[in-house]
Amino acid sequence: MSKALGSKYSIEHSDDTKEYFEFVKDLIDDDVVNEMKKYRHHYSTTCYQHCLNVSYYNYLVCRKLGLDSRAAARAGLLHDLYLYDWREREKKRGDKPHGTSHPKVALKNAKEHFEIDKREEDMIVKHMWPLTFRPPKYAESYVIVCIDKYAAALEIGVHLGRKVKAKAQSIRKSAH
Ligand SMILES: [Fe+2]
Ligand SMILES: [Fe+2]
Repeated sequence: MSKALGSKYSIEHSDDTKEYFEFVKDLIDDDVVNEMKKYRHHYSTTCYQHCLNVSYYNYLVCRKLGLDSRAAARAGLLHDLYLYDWREREKKRGDKPHGTSHPKVALKNAKEHFEIDKREEDMIVKHMWPLTFRPPKYAESYVIVCIDKYAAALEIGVHLGRKVKAKAQSIRKSAH
């Protein structure tokens, strides 16, 4: 069962996520997409969970704005399909910085395994804009730029919240 962080709906089983699930079910079942579960992204969030968070909220916002919500859901799930541990990469000298190089790697992997249209391509390769120079071509790409940051902030916030809670509990225990 999959859930976007902060959402109460099970993606596979809820009536409220039926359309979303239809858009992404082939990707969610795919081994390459599932490989992202091996890599940690923001603190305790895996790359897979981060992509699911971006995909789901990207879908909701684009649907609300009357944009291409299918492309939003699919590109969101593939936008960080770079498939390596970026912390390990960054330790190696001579590698390009992950922040600017990974959108191209993700796009290459996405194109290798799935049918990607021009809009989805733009969303994946521009999601780090303005860190990457070329500006987005589509409204949906500007949405993913914002949702990616929102999801990262949410993931970091939840992680820090859990830490604070655990610390408070251990202080309470030791005080007894
Ligand atoms: Fe990214
Ligand atoms: Fe991301």
